[in-house]
Amino acid sequence: MGVAALFLLSSLCLFAVTAQAQQCSKPSGGPNMDLKSDYITETTFADGATVAFSCNPGYRAAGGSSTITCTAGQWSAVLLRCERKNCGALPEVTNGDVIYTDGTEFGDTAKVQCKPGYNPVGGSAVVRCEVEGWSSRLQTCEVVKCVPPGGIVNGTFSPMKESYDYREVVRYSCSKDFLVLNGSRELICSENENFSPAPPTCVWVECKDPVIQNAEFESGSRPPHRLNSVVTYSCKPGYKMEGPSTVTCNLNSQWSPSLPKCNKIAKPTPPSTTSTTTSTTATPTGTEHNLLFLVKKKENVTFFL
Ligand SMILES: *[C@@H]1O[C@H](CO)[C@@H](O)[C@H](O)[C@H]1NC(C)=O
Ligand SMILES: *[C@@H]1O[C@H](CO)[C@@H](O)[C@H](O)[C@H]1NC(C)=O
Ligand SMILES: *[C@@H]1O[C@H](CO)[C@@H](O)[C@H](O)[C@H]1NC(C)=O
Repeated sequence: MGVAALFLLSSLCLFAVTAQAQQCSKPSGGPNMDLKSDYITETTFADGATVAFSCNPGYRAAGGSSTITCTAGQWSAVLLRCERKNCGALPEVTNGDVIYTDGTEFGDTAKVQCKPGYNPVGGSAVVRCEVEGWSSRLQTCEVVKCVPPGGIVNGTFSPMKESYDYREVVRYSCSKDFLVLNGSRELICSENENFSPAPPTCVWVECKDPVIQNAEFESGSRPPHRLNSVVTYSCKPGYKMEGPSTVTCNLNSQWSPSLPKCNKIAKPTPPSTTSTTTSTTATPTGTEHNLLFLVKKKENVTFFL
């Protein structure tokens, strides 16, 4: 074998080694990006080779070149930047608020919070920011409806409708004279789809004409005595009143507070027997005076000391 042939072989070998050294291995990109599918199967890249990156689903290119080049076994710097896709704000919901768990970017979720008296209907309870935008339409808020409240005996309410909106009010009235509403006159359609409070009742109120022994009617209502009628009585001479002189007819057809009594005034006892009692009752007042005097005396003493 000639020298020339040997030289050729060795130079070929050298070339192969150099070429091997100038190849690049599989490059790794920046955050949230991957090598484009065209290059994904290759493991080594020749000197001068160019590869491109693309942002992962849900991320969008936010500047920088997407390509890098292999030069002498080294990849150029990855300049591409990928940022999270932003789905933007959802349309506002009437009578509700859109609540974002985090924000409006890829992977974030949102839900609707209806105001009191409104219920969520239609759409989705939770939507997610996906590659193509928000996953679906959000729920909307619909006003709470109440069915008519209960009817009452000898009474009615208005307005009468098939359904009522939240916060709508119905008013009750009794259909006959002298019937009185016991309870709330007005009911309101509440958040729980029912009227509250409970409907009133119509009650017949009539207080009996008072019969008070040894008393005389002085002024006020004459029978029939209806709700809130007032009468005033006084006792005949020689009688003293126990309880209030004026009473009012209440919802239970009772005089309130209870009717007074007229008690016979006790005849004054002869003076002979009273003398002993007065003396005993006078003693405490006497000692009181003495005590007061003692205190005053003491004061003077201390003052002079
Ligand atoms: C309703 O009215 C009728 C006729 O006036 C009466 O007989 C009845 O007792 C009343 N009912 C109530 C609960 O007041
Ligand atoms: C008024 O209503 C209350 C509560 O429903 C009830 O307890 C009471 O007995 C009623 N009064 C009359 C006089 O009907
Ligand atoms: C003792 O006190 C009374 C009233 O506190 C007063 O009127 C009187 O002058 C006093 N006596 C003397 C000696 O200060």
